[in-house]
Amino acid sequence: EYFGTNVEGSEEVLKNKTGENETEDTLTNRQGHPVTDNQNVRTVGNRGPTTLENYDFLEKISHFDRERIPERVVHARGAGAHGYFEAYGTIGDEPISKYTRAKLFQEKGKKTPVFVRFSTVNHGKHSPETLRDPRGFAVKFYTEDGNWDLVGNNLKIFFIRDPLKFPDLVHAFQPDPVTNIQDGERIFDFISQSPEAMHMITFLFSPWGIPANYRQMQGSGVHAYRWVNDEGKAVLVKYHFEPLQGIKNLTQAEAEEIQGKNFNHATQDLYEAIEKGEYPEWEMYVQIISDDEHSEWDFDPLDPTKLWYKDDVPWRKVGKLVLNKNPQNFHAEVEQAAFGTGVLVDGLDFSDDKLLQGRTFAYSDTQRYRVGANYLQLPINAPKKHVATNQRGGQMEYRVDQGTHQNPHVNYEPSIIGGLKEAKQVGKEYTPHVEGEVKREAIERQNNYGQAGETYRRFNEWERNELINNLVNTLHSCRKEIQDAMVEHLTKCDPDYGKRVAEGLKMMHMETGHGPIGTTKTEEAVQQAEQVGHP
Ligand code: HEM
Repeated sequence: EYFGTNVEGSEEVLKNKTGENETEDTLTNRQGHPVTDNQNVRTVGNRGPTTLENYDFLEKISHFDRERIPERVVHARGAGAHGYFEAYGTIGDEPISKYTRAKLFQEKGKKTPVFVRFSTVNHGKHSPETLRDPRGFAVKFYTEDGNWDLVGNNLKIFFIRDPLKFPDLVHAFQPDPVTNIQDGERIFDFISQSPEAMHMITFLFSPWGIPANYRQMQGSGVHAYRWVNDEGKAVLVKYHFEPLQGIKNLTQAEAEEIQGKNFNHATQDLYEAIEKGEYPEWEMYVQIISDDEHSEWDFDPLDPTKLWYKDDVPWRKVGKLVLNKNPQNFHAEVEQAAFGTGVLVDGLDFSDDKLLQGRTFAYSDTQRYRVGANYLQLPINAPKKHVATNQRGGQMEYRVDQGTHQNPHVNYEPSIIGGLKEAKQVGKEYTPHVEGEVKREAIERQNNYGQAGETYRRFNEWERNELINNLVNTLHSCRKEIQDAMVEHLTKCDPDYGKRVAEGLKMMHMETGHGPIGTTKTEEAVQQAEQVGHP
C-alpha cells in the first residue's frame, strides 16, 4: 500500500531497526536521525549567535509553527469518541428492509464502528462549553458500503430554512467583526427579521439551549432524509438519538456557576466517563412518513424549522450507539475529523430540503480548505473498507488508492488496458421525478409561529420562566425597534409569550452597552461588582 524503496529487502531489513546508539525509545527527528542533544541549539560558542544549519532545531520549530490548522468556521469547540452502532434489525414488528436496504440496519446485533464528535457552534476552539448555543452531534458510521455521516444537532429543528441565509445567521451570532465580542443586539437584529427562527429561538433561550454535558443530551438529524428499499421505493425519515443516561439541561445561573470553575467541563465529562468504563449510550429512533407533500399538515414536512410531532409520527427504535474508546490524539482524530451531509450509503438518500442540499456543498468544500485536498486519506476520515479511485495528487497525498491488481499507469476510466471498473448497481435505483419552474421563491406553508407557540405551551413553568428571563436579559440592551419587532413576533407565537417578554423589558432598567447572550443581570450582581476593589 505504501510507497517503498527498490533496494532488495531494504524495507524489511530497515523496519524498526535501531542504530548502535539507539533503542526503540530513542528520540529522533522525522528523518530518523537520533537526537543527541535536545536541550541546546547549536551556537558559535555557548553564548551564541546561533547557526542556521541546525536541522534538528529547524525541523522541530517549523513543525511546531504549523501545529494548528484553521479551526472549523462553526462548531470549532468539540470533543469526540469512538464506538459502535448496534442494529436492532427490525422496526417494531416489521423488518427494516421494508423501508431501507442500507446494510448497517438489517441484521439484529450487527455492529458498525463509529466516530462521534460533539460540539458547540459559535465560538472558538477553546471557548467555554457552558455557552447558550446549539450542540453538534455528528456521527460517522464506517459501514461495509463506505462511510455514512449523520451531521446533526442536539435540538431537533434549525433557525432558517434557506441555505443562502446561513453565513448571515452565523455572522450575527459570532463575535462582532470590530469588537470581537458576541453581541445580543446583532443577534436579535437578524432574528427579528427572520420570523422562521422563532421556534429555534424558543428552544435556544430555554434551558434546552445549555445541555449539561454531551452524554446527557439528545441528538437529531434535523432534516427529513429519504430511505430507499430494494424496490427503489422511498419514504421520508427523521433520525433521533435518545441518551440512556437521561437528559439534563442547565439554567443560566447553573451554567455560570460551572463556567467560573471549569470551562472544559463537557469534554472532561465525556473523556472521564469513557476512561472509567461508563460508556455513554444512545438509542437511535426514526420517524417515517410517506414521501409526499403531506397536505394534511399546516407546515411543509421538508421544513427544518418544524418538528414532526411524536403524537403524529411515532419514534421507532432501530439501534443503539455506544461510545467506548477515547481518541489517542485529539488533533489527528477530533480536529481533523471531517463530517458531511453528502456522505450517504446505498439505501439512504437526500430529501429536497433546500437547507440540507446547501449544507451538502459546504462541508466537503470547507474541509478541502481546512484539512486539505487529501483529507479523506486520513485514518479518521477514510472508510474502513476497500477504496479505489483515479484521484491523484494534491497536497499530502501519501498513498495511491487503487486495487491491488491494477495497472498503475491507468488512472482513468474507461480503459481496455487495465484500471478500475464501475461497480454493479444492486437494488433498484431510486429515480424521483422532478418538474417545476426554476425560480427564487420561499415555500408556501411557512407557518412561522404555530409550532413556536406550541413549544412554549408544552414547556414546564420553570422552563418558561427561564426562557422569558434569558430573552429579556439579552433583549433589554437592544434598541427599541428590535425589542418591538421581537415582542410582535413572540405575541404571534402565543399572546402570553409576547406579553411576558414585553413586561419583563418594561421592568428592566434600560442599560447602555451590549453583551453576549443570556448572561444573568440582577441588581445584586451589579452591586457586588461595584464593591469589589482593584488591587
Ligand atoms: C459544521 C455549514 C447547517 C450541524 C459545519 C461546518 C460548516 C457548516 C462549513 C464546518 C465543517 C468543518 O469544518 O468540518 C453549514 C451550512 C448550513 C449548516 C452551510 C446550512 C445551510 C447545519 C445544521 C446542522 C449542522 C442544520 C444540524 C442539523 C453541524 C455540525 C457541525 C457543523 C454538527 C460540526 C461537525 C463536526 O463535528 O466536525 N457546518 N451548516 N449544521 N454543522 Fe453545519
